[in-house]
Amino acid sequence: MKTYGYGKQHIDLDDVIAVIKTLKSPFLTCGPKVKEFEKAICDYTGAKYCVAVNSATSGLHIAMLASGIQPEDEVITTPITFLASANCARYCGAKVVFADIEKETANINPEEIKKHITERTKAVIPVHFAGQSCDMEEIQKIAKEHNMYVIEDAAHAIGSEYKGTKVGACKYSDMTVFSFHPVKTITTCEGGAVTTNNEELYKKLLAYRSHGVHKEGEMFHTWEYEMRELGYNYRMTDIQAALGISQLKKLDKFKARRREIVDYYNKNLNIEHLIEKDFSNACFHLYPILVKDRLNFYNKARECGLNLQVHYIPVHLQPYYQNLGYKKGDYPIAEEYYEHCISLPLYYDLKEGDLETIVKRIKNLLNK
Ligand SMILES: Cc1ncc(COP(=O)(O)O)c(C=O)c1O
Repeated sequence: MKTYGYGKQHIDLDDVIAVIKTLKSPFLTCGPKVKEFEKAICDYTGAKYCVAVNSATSGLHIAMLASGIQPEDEVITTPITFLASANCARYCGAKVVFADIEKETANINPEEIKKHITERTKAVIPVHFAGQSCDMEEIQKIAKEHNMYVIEDAAHAIGSEYKGTKVGACKYSDMTVFSFHPVKTITTCEGGAVTTNNEELYKKLLAYRSHGVHKEGEMFHTWEYEMRELGYNYRMTDIQAALGISQLKKLDKFKARRREIVDYYNKNLNIEHLIEKDFSNACFHLYPILVKDRLNFYNKARECGLNLQVHYIPVHLQPYYQNLGYKKGDYPIAEEYYEHCISLPLYYDLKEGDLETIVKRIKNLLNK
């Protein structure tokens, strides 16, 4: 029996050749491929600046540092996300404040953001869940009124568009963070990137990525460099960047196929799923459906070769966040969504025959 997970990378011969060429080149890290990848991301998204990093988690962390987030600050994000969207604020000692989601998209609800703003709120991290952009114009408006940074967690959303603009262009935000983990639409094994249009933020991101070190002006002609703040080693290797460049060339093809698969599920499965809004042209990362008895569905799906996944356990219900004062009932729409959601297989390599098999198996499960 053929088995299916919920996501999988697509690696072709061009990717393999790109990696091997770089492996045999003089630079395995800190070389030209990282810069080339950063430029390719700028060209694709329309952003002015890009800093490639070794994961989206690192990207979120340096975005928080560049925003000057301090222990006395509050940062708002969604409970329906991966841990990193919230943890990045905790790395800086700040308080994480969650805002509930919209039922139809599972994205953060701008009206809920408003309810949680205090004079200590310094930033909001909207997460483009499953690849669909949040309502960024609305979020930017709220952020401007309250002097907050907007950092888009676009770990799911490379290739997506919002109101005709690519996610990552930072038209409605200060910074955008991408992930290139293998389950995402394009991969560098582990890896991520931060885009921005703000030169000052860009310089800070560069420094925080590499030990807080600056090398400017006359220093370029000598061994000199200066460490001005505490930074990290969050650098991407040239081998990863070479893979990223090669993958990025295929992004539009990956997006088209992912949208075809989503259309296929929408047409062939009569089951509750997330709705794409008019402003969105998503490069879908996930296809979550909502089922009545999720645990039973999950177990039965495994028996018939569908190794599905749940995105996500609401972050505020993790023991770490419960220890900080959150509890069941705090975010009812997110909690209700979590009780029923389960993500179907969605990746480029799925062929028509695979989709027919998957849909047949799911229909069988739903009729049981
Ligand atoms: C929404 C979201 N943000 C951040 C991350 C962290 O990405 P990475 O694994 O590249 O650190 C993930 C990873 O799954 C994610 O889904």
